Amino acid sequence: MEKTLCIIKPDAVANGFSDKINEKISSHGLTIINSKQILITRQIAEEFYAEHSERPFFGELVDFMTSGEAVVQILEGENAIKAYRGLMGATNPAEADEGTLRALFAESLSKNAVHGSDSLDSAEREINIMSDIF
Ligand code: RTP
Ligand code: MG
Repeated sequence: MEKTLCIIKPDAVANGFSDKINEKISSHGLTIINSKQILITRQIAEEFYAEHSERPFFGELVDFMTSGEAVVQILEGENAIKAYRGLMGATNPAEADEGTLRALFAESLSKNAVHGSDSLDSAEREINIMSDIF
């Protein structure tokens, strides 16, 4: 069964949305097989988002992801990667479809509530980076 890496980001954890987000994930047919609330280190955040290291928003992204506790989870299900990306909605919550996690729970483009792997390769890579924490 396909797996994907999900992070409930520090804004959503601080806003108390973790349980509501996980209810949506479960009712979308995805099983949460690992889940842990942690403070992500700078080193892990930089490695995790390495594809964006040359982007102007990289510093802000790493600062935000390490600003408070996040919930790191592995989700499993049929077409889990695509299914969970669909549930998340667009990166910018202003563009996210009604009912998606980002439309419901995100504050802004940077504080956008959730992360999800975007391909089979990134899911494998991201699960590998986070595997030590569970
Ligand atoms: P994520 O990796 O967090 O699931 O988000 P995503 O795939 O939807 O978007 P991605 O392009 O991977 O961007 C990663 C995160 O960087 C922030 N971002 N800021 N200021 C900007 O123009 C900008 N663009 C992206 C967002 O918080 C996004 O989630
Ligand atoms: Mg991404």
